[in-house]
Amino acid sequence: MKALVVYYSKSGNTREIGQNIAREIPCDIEEIYDTQNRSGIIGYIKSAYQANRGKLTTIKPMEKDPTNYDIVIIGTPVWASRPAVAVTTYLTENKDKFKDVAFFVTYGGSGFKKTIQTMETIIGTKPVQTMGIRAKEIENKTCDCKIDPFVRDIGN
Ligand SMILES: Cc1cc2nc3c(=O)[nH]c(=O)nc-3n(C[C@H](O)[C@H](O)[C@H](O)COP(=O)(O)O)c2cc1C
Repeated sequence: MKALVVYYSKSGNTREIGQNIAREIPCDIEEIYDTQNRSGIIGYIKSAYQANRGKLTTIKPMEKDPTNYDIVIIGTPVWASRPAVAVTTYLTENKDKFKDVAFFVTYGGSGFKKTIQTMETIIGTKPVQTMGIRAKEIENKTCDCKIDPFVRDIGN
């Protein structure tokens, strides 16, 4: 099975989980880059507003083509109970190119389910597996117990 891990990360949490997944299974990995400036409080407010409204952004061109993979494992931080704007954009631009998908999400404490539902709605495909990890679990290094079953179930 050919797998691709794709993620966006503003402050490193989702990147860390994406990289951990990629250490567990044979796969390619690629980060999504947003071209918009999202720094500071203005960047935060703008990002939450855009995410909540389902707005799109311009992402840097991706190297990996999802059509070449049996499964694409897509990771996003939760922004205002929605996927990050760059992930909404990636899903929208590639929605017809996925076979199977799995989603992983990092978040502070709320909005995990709504984020997964939104991702599913954008591409019109149910994920074979989902995982939500709180920022605290990453900080306390207690997230491995979630990553192990997530990658095991994807492999089956
Ligand atoms: C613009 C913005 C909106 C956010 N909205 C939520 C939210 O609705 N619920 C939540 O639990 N966390 C929210 N967070 C926290 C992030 O989801 C959390 O810190 C995540 O792990 C960050 O991932 P990253 O380090 O990969 O960017 C928000 C963060 C940002 C920057």
